[in-house]
Amino acid sequence: LPSADRYRPRFHFTPSSTWMNDPNGLIRHNGRWHLFFQNNPLGSTHDNLSWGHAVSDDLATWEELPVALEFAEDEMVFSGSIVHDAQNVSGLAPEGGAGPLVAFYTSAYGPQHPTHPGIQAQSIAYSTDDGLTWTRYPGNPVLDRGSQNFRDPKVSFHPETGTWFMLTVEALDHSVLVHTSSDLLTWEHASTFVDPAIDGGIWECPDLLRVPVQDASGVHAGEAWVLILSTNPGGPAGGSGTYALVGDFDGRSFTALGAPEPLDLGPDCYAAVSFSGVTGEPLMIGWMNNWDYVMETPTAPWRSSMTLPRRIRLAAQAGDVPRLRQQCVTPPVPATRRIDVTAQRAQLATLPADEPFRLHGTLAVDSPLTLRLRFGEGSDAGELVIEVDDRGRVTMDRSAAHEREFAPRYSRTAPYQTAAGSERIDVDLLVDRSTAELLLDEGRAVMSMQIFPEPGPVTVLSEPAS
Ligand code: FRU
Repeated sequence: LPSADRYRPRFHFTPSSTWMNDPNGLIRHNGRWHLFFQNNPLGSTHDNLSWGHAVSDDLATWEELPVALEFAEDEMVFSGSIVHDAQNVSGLAPEGGAGPLVAFYTSAYGPQHPTHPGIQAQSIAYSTDDGLTWTRYPGNPVLDRGSQNFRDPKVSFHPETGTWFMLTVEALDHSVLVHTSSDLLTWEHASTFVDPAIDGGIWECPDLLRVPVQDASGVHAGEAWVLILSTNPGGPAGGSGTYALVGDFDGRSFTALGAPEPLDLGPDCYAAVSFSGVTGEPLMIGWMNNWDYVMETPTAPWRSSMTLPRRIRLAAQAGDVPRLRQQCVTPPVPATRRIDVTAQRAQLATLPADEPFRLHGTLAVDSPLTLRLRFGEGSDAGELVIEVDDRGRVTMDRSAAHEREFAPRYSRTAPYQTAAGSERIDVDLLVDRSTAELLLDEGRAVMSMQIFPEPGPVTVLSEPAS
């Protein structure tokens, strides 16, 4: 394999030969999954931002399609979302049909733009062929505050009030704006959300999810709203990262009920947003990279992968706000590459190079353990290390996992602390070439991390923690 392709995951979307950042316009439509993404159709750097496009029937394998929305002279196409306007309230499709797909994106106008120099404002494009081709709306931009950092429109429908709502950020002001609309074309300001508990850097890519709540026996116990927000820097493992806040939403304004918690404790999950067109548990995808070192990842000409899709629910807690539970949509991994790490043998397995594999098991907190995944052989071998200590803390460390020195500042995950008094920790790790995603305690925490190890077979070692 060419060296960059050696790192290309099998079950995570990667662009064939160009740059990618945020997932955009995630939607399930007519039985297909659509993933649009921030893309430079001309190269491997963050430039000429456009919307790339990929589709999947199974959420595990993706087919890249032609660029959906291309940058123009003096206008880049920044992040946003897509909804299906089934009632054609926008009037953008011919009457009597299935209604258009309507895309909302940020027009990031260049300094020389004749009417909006340096401005970021929200624009619309629509498709009447199920997302294959897109037409820009002539009335763009549809929402303009004269701001230079106003972006990332995420549109959803609120059935109780019968209105559409759009979330955006004023990135530098650390605020999330809610606008509402009945025709998807004209938008009115409804509220502004700020939260001093979220500090760090700029705010980006907001989303608001309606999430089912389950009680301790798994029985449906209502719903709550979860605000999703990305910050850069300020991520839990350093650099950029995504947070979730449980709260209430009445169609106009969001009220937080608890403190923000990281959506992911690893360094590589940013700009995560949900699919439109999904009912029940929301399904999200994040960008599996970090603004702090994306330019250094050794995979050019393609650059960046998406995370696995993940389902989100909430677990009720007596006297407290419900807590997030996540479940990755895990691709099929043959039984021979599924390793049970519960058995405390020194060498658990040797796996062929390049093929995805999965480690899983239930570890006892009173016999702390270090798991080492050794990539390659001899003195060049790299190691990914997962540690469970005697206080029930888990970390994942890639400082020794790489073929060459890479981003030493963000080499570890933020630690996960299992609940006081719990005796066991479930671990479930999926490694798909340059991606490692660790699910802990039945989805109470996720750690996502890129690794760029030596080629060669993988040895899985287990030893008592020092
Ligand atoms: C987040 C982000 C968004 C913006 C896009 C530009 O990673 O900075 O706020 O719309 O990337 O590519």
